[in-house]
Amino acid sequence: MAKKVILDVDTGVDDAVAVILALRSPELEVLGITTVTGNVDVEKATKNTLHVLELLNRTDVPVHPGARGPVTPGTWSVGERFHGAGGLGGVQVPEPSTRPRKEHAVDFIRRVVREEGPREVTLITTAPMTNAALSLLIEPDLAERLSAIVSMGGAFCTGRQGTGNSSPRSEFNVWFDPVAAKVVYNSGARVYAVGLDVTTRRDAAISRELYERLAESPDEVGRFVHAILGAYVDAVGYAPMHDPMAVASVILPDLLTFELLPVDVEICGELTRGETVADFRDFDAEVPRRRPNVHVAVDVDGPEFLRLLLDRVAGLELG
Ligand code: BDR
Ligand code: CA
Repeated sequence: MAKKVILDVDTGVDDAVAVILALRSPELEVLGITTVTGNVDVEKATKNTLHVLELLNRTDVPVHPGARGPVTPGTWSVGERFHGAGGLGGVQVPEPSTRPRKEHAVDFIRRVVREEGPREVTLITTAPMTNAALSLLIEPDLAERLSAIVSMGGAFCTGRQGTGNSSPRSEFNVWFDPVAAKVVYNSGARVYAVGLDVTTRRDAAISRELYERLAESPDEVGRFVHAILGAYVDAVGYAPMHDPMAVASVILPDLLTFELLPVDVEICGELTRGETVADFRDFDAEVPRRRPNVHVAVDVDGPEFLRLLLDRVAGLELG
């Protein structure tokens, strides 16, 4: 039976690819998509998401706009400079002809989880966790009622790849709203964190060669993915697929290896705002230990991930 999921996105180049992967995977039933400010403001994230749904002929999937900014106090700016003007790698998309739903993202998440019943719904966040945190603060029981929260976010220093991208120590989604991440991690929910430790692995990224193959995709959607990745591949030489990896971890439960660890978030460090601090120490009775609360992704089968991704989003077969 397909797993019921809600996607919480800030579309965003790799969010767009994550939405495509989710909607083209029979292992998942996407109950709805909620949007939030992060890579771009929530209006643009909503517009971009509606465009992707139109491209996929899946306008039946409801889109619910959510928080307009983080719950963390202080100044902030969206991540548009990494995702190009408009958020889709500089590709200008037409105004969608479909409209988002009126019900707020936070109300939608709470209602659907209640209606579907205990442990039926997995919330996949590929954005700052503002909507998830607000839902949990309004309704703490949600933590128990959700099957899991799978979050693309964090940099846990499990290897060289575990360093940050928004700062030396912090990953964008957590850096943008560290208080929200702290609420989610400490909510009691089953939390799976797919962080930069695994998403920046080069064997799991779209290389320039794979990017060029996307241009020849027989599938219009594959060619759209090629177009939105262009600016990033031109600038960096390859494109990590952060958000699709979080979705893939629900599609193929053995794709990633997780370790259950005590994790907390630095919310106000001068240099370390948004650092996700995982405690790897070996403990004995003398040292008080925080309760392990987050399943942290520490390894991924990169080639298997790319096979799944390229097949589903572009109909390309990798050897
Ligand atoms: C995360 O930040 C965003 O820029 C991406 O969409 C992804 O969710 C990676 O740090
Ligand atoms: Ca994202």
